[in-house]
Formats: sequence, C-alpha cells, structure tokens
Amino acid sequence: MEISPKKTTGFNLDNYDLKIAEENPEKFWEKIASELYWFKKWEKVVEINYPFHKWFIGGKTNIVYNCLDRYMNTWRKNKVAIYWEGENYERKTLSYFDLYKEVNRLANALKNLGVKKGDRVVIYLPRIPEQIISMLAVAKIGAVHSVVYAGFSSQALRDRIMDADAKVIITADGYYYRGKVRKLKEIVDDAIKDLNINKVIVVERLGIDVDMKNGRDIYYNDAVKGMSYECKTEVMDSEDILFILYTSGTTGKPKGVVHVHGGYMVGVYATTKLILDVKDEDIYWCTADPGWITGHSYIVYGPLLNNATILFYEGAPDYPNIERWWELIERYRVTIFYTTPTALRYFKRFGEEPILKHDLSSLRLLGTVGEPINPEVWLWFYKTIGRENCPIVDTWWQTETGMHVVTTYPNMKMKPGYAGKGIFGIKADVADENGKILNPGEKGYLVIKNFFPALMRTIYKNEEKYKSYFRHGLYYAEDYAVKDEEGYIMILGRSDEVIKTSGYRLGTFEIESAILTHEAVAEAAVIGKPHEIKGEIIKAFVVLKEGYKPSEELKESIRKKVREVLGPIAVPAEIEFVDSLPKTRSGKIMRRVLKARELGLPLGDLSTLEED
Ligand code: WT7
Repeated sequence: MEISPKKTTGFNLDNYDLKIAEENPEKFWEKIASELYWFKKWEKVVEINYPFHKWFIGGKTNIVYNCLDRYMNTWRKNKVAIYWEGENYERKTLSYFDLYKEVNRLANALKNLGVKKGDRVVIYLPRIPEQIISMLAVAKIGAVHSVVYAGFSSQALRDRIMDADAKVIITADGYYYRGKVRKLKEIVDDAIKDLNINKVIVVERLGIDVDMKNGRDIYYNDAVKGMSYECKTEVMDSEDILFILYTSGTTGKPKGVVHVHGGYMVGVYATTKLILDVKDEDIYWCTADPGWITGHSYIVYGPLLNNATILFYEGAPDYPNIERWWELIERYRVTIFYTTPTALRYFKRFGEEPILKHDLSSLRLLGTVGEPINPEVWLWFYKTIGRENCPIVDTWWQTETGMHVVTTYPNMKMKPGYAGKGIFGIKADVADENGKILNPGEKGYLVIKNFFPALMRTIYKNEEKYKSYFRHGLYYAEDYAVKDEEGYIMILGRSDEVIKTSGYRLGTFEIESAILTHEAVAEAAVIGKPHEIKGEIIKAFVVLKEGYKPSEELKESIRKKVREVLGPIAVPAEIEFVDSLPKTRSGKIMRRVLKARELGLPLGDLSTLEED
C-alpha cells in the first residue's frame, strides 16, 4: 500500500538540494556543518582509515555552545526550551536563558568537585530537567557523560560505572513511576558499595530520607549553591568524546558506544531539522528517555541545536489513566509527536474513544522508532492520531548510528511497514552474509555502504568489537531486511542474540547471567517470543539445581532476582523449567532451537546439536 502525504509546502527540507547529498555527500555535510558554530573551522571534511573514520578534521567546537551559548545574544535566548511535566502534574517551564544558567551553575559545581576534561560522569536520573541539565553541564566542561536509564538496577548500573571508570555520579533520591516511589539512591549505594567513587551528587526529586555518605555524597542544591551563572565552554576538538552510551550485544558485557562532539552534532542537527522537520513554532514531543540514544539525539541534542521547544514528561504513558498522553498533546498543543510502535500497539487496544475525546488537531508530523511497526498499527496511527493529516516518518537507526539512517522524508510517499530508504548522504541496502547486494524481494541483512558523521567512532576500550561491525566493506547493522522494487527497505528484526522488548534492547546473555545469580538455577537460556503489544517478550528456559522443585513461587523469586539485578525491563514474562538445554558439541546453548520449538518452526540445520 502507498500513501502520499497531503500537499503541504514549507518543509525545512525544501531549502536543501538533495542532489548534492546524493552525488557528493561530503559537500552536503559541509554545508550542514557550516550552519553551526565552530571556534575554528575544519581543514578537511572526512578521513577514512578503514573501518575507522573521522570528520571535520582540525575543527574546534562544543556541541553545548551550539545548543545554548550561541543563542544568548539574540531573541532566541527567550524561547521556551523545555516544558516539563511531572507524573504528579507538577509543571516547569525553562527558557533557553534559564537552561543556560542552570547548566552553567552545575558545570561550575562539577569543576569545583574536581571533574576535568575527559573524565567520565555517570548520570542516573529520571526524566526531570536535571537529567538534561546534567548532560549539558558535563559536556560543557569537556567531560564525558554516560547516561544510564533509571529503569536499570544495580548490577547493570555497576557494570557501566566500572567499564567507563567513572568517579562521579549524578543521581536522585528517587522518582515517581505509576504513582509508586522508586528509590534511586539506594540502588546507587548498592551498585558502588565497594567501588572507589569520589562524588555522588543527589537531586532531591522526592525529598525522602536517604543515606548520605560523608565526604562522598552531596545534594545537588548544595553543590550548585553560590555558583556563578556564567561558565566558559570548553573548546573541544571535533573528534573529542562527547558521550559513551552502553547498549546490549551478544555478550554479557554491554558495549560502550562512543560518540564525539563534531560529527554527532552535525548529524543530529541535520536529521532533527530535515526528517523531524522541527521549526521555531513547533512544540515537539519525543516520548523516549534520555537514558537511551533516542533521548540523547532527539530529546536533548537535536532539538536544542535547532533552538526548538520540547515537551518533556516524567511519567508513565497510562498514569493516572489511559488518556494521559492525549491530554498532554492537547494541553501543550504538540505539533510533532515521535514515539514507539509498542506504545501505539498498547493504546490501540483501548479503542478510539479515549483519543477522540481530546483535540489533537495541533499535530502535523508523526514519527516512530525502535522496532518494526506493523502496517495495521501504522494505519491506526495515521488515521486515529494523525487524522490523515500528518506524514509519518518510520525512522530506522541505532545507538551505533547516533542518528536516523533509513526513513522516508516528510514529503515523500509512504508505504506502511517499510521504513524507507537511506537518507541524505547515506547509502543503505540489503546484502547476504558474503557482502553480495541482494535483489528486491530477497531477504538478507541491512547494510550501510558509506560512512556518515554521526556513526560511532569506536566501542569504548574495545576496538575489536567496533571492527566486528564491518565485513566485506559494509557496515552490518545486525538486522534482517528486504527491499522492494523502488528500493524501500522493510526491517524484519534482529539477526543476532538481541531481544527487542517494548523497543528496549537487551542481550540474551545479559538476562541469562542475571537469572543465574539465583541460588536455585543451574542453567538458563532466554529467547525473544513474538508478542502482540511488546513486539517480543522474554521467555526463559531454566534448569534447576539438584534439590529444587519447579513451582510458581520459584518463578516469582527468579523474576524478583532479575528485577533486582538488571531492572524491570529485563524480567522474563514467561519461565519454563526444563531438564536440559539443547547445546552444540562444544557446549554452546542453541537458543535458535529453543525458539524454533517454541514457535513451531522448522529446526533447520541441527548437525552440531547434541542434546544431553
Ligand atoms: C535496533 C537499535 C534507534 C533508536 C532506538 C533503538 C531496531 C530501530 C527501527 C525501525 C524497525 C527498528 C533495530 C535496530 N529498530 N528503529 N524504525 N524499524 N526496527 O536504538 O536500542 O540501539 O536499537 O532497534 O533492530 O538495530 P537501539
């Protein structure tokens, strides 16, 4: 099926010559980069030392200068940067000037606490303004942030702190989620109990009593007290690290994806402007969390680089009731709405009534991200939310790519189920495992043929891992895909041992390790099982130790353990006790056999299987 967007003119994209991007991507990126501020201009656009790449060589900038400082001498400083709403209906509005001042105060406080250029700071906060302020303050002084999603628990937090070798953590006493209090500081204390951490800065979100360790822990308000509202922005090289963001892969250890000031800035600025079409008059709402890449790129950096006005909501989509999101769109007159297929599938269940009660006529552009969107859900989004007035951009990308890679432009013909094509400056295609580009209709792997500024630079302290993405001269995204006659790409899901549940990315091995921390468990294997709303759910197969008997209580206690170790998002929805797991002769668990059995699919080549 094809749907053309309603005839509208005035997309930001109309002012750009995409032929240049097609024929000479470097020239295109250079033009985009020149719209931003550089302390010193680059000498060369790109340098490739395959598979490593650098952009805007010799250029000096700082992404935060472009997000905040450069507006301070114009009317732009008075624009609203953030409309924030707490789950408990608390409300705050911050102009760019307000944000600038708060960032500077915290930046000065961080310096005062000994944070220097290049130091890693872990940010473990809920969706409150301080989360954004912290990211910007860290980057402003040239330090490196590593944001950890507040839904992760102590082991996941600990692994990330240790891998990044962070000495400073910014957290909160706790936060509200679905009306319940989640105590963050306790989780931090548990995660770092035997680590050498210099400072823990604690935002008082709830005002509850927390343990404060003498000399190490300091309240946010005490840290910024008396600090100046001005702070010089550190001059950074284009290739200096901006952040490390951990994401799941096939091993138990999360990968620290590294992004830099220059190229990342140019990429997210361009895509926020030209794909999400954000303009001065928009109220833009991305429902993600800055703890994930979507939030880094399209809540924080992309919008601020465009001097946009964002809505930032702390809580759950359905709290206190199923109308919360639609109330927010109506109250703030949201014009651009960027969300996930899981959320849409969930809301679709409740029918149109809760939505039609609200005036959503302000909407003009919709977007989805994180997982494939089923055509019927796409159509529901288009009709019920967008009232057939709004183009939908189904944006495919990854933590590793930093920015959108495959999608349609807002003025382009849409095909529900197909994300689109490689965007400006990017050549995406479908190949087999030997690097051969496949014909339309043939299923294979999604590959990217060329480099672009926002693509990660490396995996922190693990160059080999970085190199492993590149095979036969192509970047393998680890997604299955197929293209049609017009080159539109349909994403078919992950080709590795990564599970996408509710759009969250979790490695099978990570979850298995968490299950194995339970005293009763001898062996465990997990698979992703298709689910109507969540895309996939986690199913665990567990072999118990001698002396333990299968029971519902035991399942619950395993779930509780996973929640404590990794967090609620990693808890297996289904647990099955089995006597043994299928393994290869060398002892590797064959998850694909479990999956095939579970789904009633052919088992494929089992020559290496040895079941004991
Ligand atoms: C994986 C990356 C990119 C921001 C959020 C997730 C899946 C992402 C789409 C889409 C189908 C998608 C892929 C990809 N994915 N967007 N529009 N259609 N699948 O970032 O956690 O790094 O996950 O999400 O499987 O590889 P991430």
